[in-house]
Amino acid sequence: MSRRSQTSLLELFVVTAPGLAPLCAAEIRAHALLGSLLSPQVQSGGVAVRGDLSALYRANLHLRTASRVLVRLGEFHAENFTQLRTRAALLSWETYLQPGGAVDLRVTCHKSRLYHTGAVAERVAQAIGDRLRQPPALHKYDEESDEPGAQLVVVRLLHDTCTISIDASGTLLHRRGYRLATAKAPLRETLAAGLLLASGWEATGALPPPLLDPFCGSGTIPIEAAMLALQLAPGRNRHFAFMNWPGFDVATWQTLLDEADAHAQARRAQLRDALQIQASDRDAGAIEAAQANAQRAGVAEVIAFACHAVSAIEPPAAPGYVVTNPPYGQRVRGGADLRNLYAQLGKVLRQRCPGWHVTLLSSDRALLGQMGLRLDASLTFVNGGIDVMVASGVVQ
Ligand SMILES: C[S@@+](CC[C@H](N)C(=O)[O-])C[C@H]1O[C@@H](n2cnc3c(N)ncnc32)[C@H](O)[C@@H]1O
Repeated sequence: MSRRSQTSLLELFVVTAPGLAPLCAAEIRAHALLGSLLSPQVQSGGVAVRGDLSALYRANLHLRTASRVLVRLGEFHAENFTQLRTRAALLSWETYLQPGGAVDLRVTCHKSRLYHTGAVAERVAQAIGDRLRQPPALHKYDEESDEPGAQLVVVRLLHDTCTISIDASGTLLHRRGYRLATAKAPLRETLAAGLLLASGWEATGALPPPLLDPFCGSGTIPIEAAMLALQLAPGRNRHFAFMNWPGFDVATWQTLLDEADAHAQARRAQLRDALQIQASDRDAGAIEAAQANAQRAGVAEVIAFACHAVSAIEPPAAPGYVVTNPPYGQRVRGGADLRNLYAQLGKVLRQRCPGWHVTLLSSDRALLGQMGLRLDASLTFVNGGIDVMVASGVVQ
């Protein structure tokens, strides 16, 4: 990659799951190391930002609520296949693709003269071949696999305008690499991070308030909480698609890793033993999985894990935050009476956590009603394909 293209600004799009885009924009604005991601704008499906190559690397390394980061390669008018092929061949594919490399073209067409997605993909593949003098190998990209198998290229036709973007992330960003052990109905790491950000827990303050997850399962919420408070970069130990690009700048990446590590070390020294994160679950296997995951994430020593039912929680005296994802029917089945469980949770919180903030992820308004707490449920996420509410309030 030339020096000029390294320093010029790229148009980036940070893709998020439904409900997470405003939280992601807030994350970008607040993070001490993401100042080079310029003018974040919430749009449908994510956040548009501008930044240089190191900003692109930083976005992948540090963002907790993002699913992937796309770089816009180009945008042009195309109302027939000749225009599509010739104009697509003018784009600088060589920055991102190896000649003959594996590519997956994900095409969508709306309100455009070119509407056949397969034919559009074929012409874009030919354009890549024209430009690189070798046609790409078309392969399926698997976003959940640690080895996605192909570079994802996103082609969008809307009102005869063709926008082509390159995926910089590869495996989806929720896969941080620590969660190898899972219990029932694990929450995506990006959703857990979003829940924590939505809860208002002041994770980055001088002394974060106590945090409690009494239904911690495989530990996603407390682990994300600890990583957030300790400012550990979620992408520290994984591979990204941009590392395969011909223009990958290893020296810049190493500098950014060092910067991230120095930042996290300073934060750890500042917090010392002050972090109070409690995580419990009645299932011994879940606690075992959560501890192993926390170990891999490098946060095991700052989380107090315990195996017991919600009725046995012993929260610290100082008011804090309960952030949790109790069972809610569609995803966790069993003989348990969920209405009784929610009623019991409400009772336990009123008795032992007066004045605490509570934020729960649940799909069922009637179940939340059993808690007898005044909760606001205006924010929704999608978890495992179903709409789920983020319900928040203060325990009275
Ligand atoms: C939806 S899962 C939580 C998933 C978790 N957030 C994760 O990412 O793995 C709900 C958890 O609540 C636990 N659970 C169910 N009833 C419980 C009770 N009465 N007391 C404590 N834990 C309970 C289950 O064992 C399960 O792990």
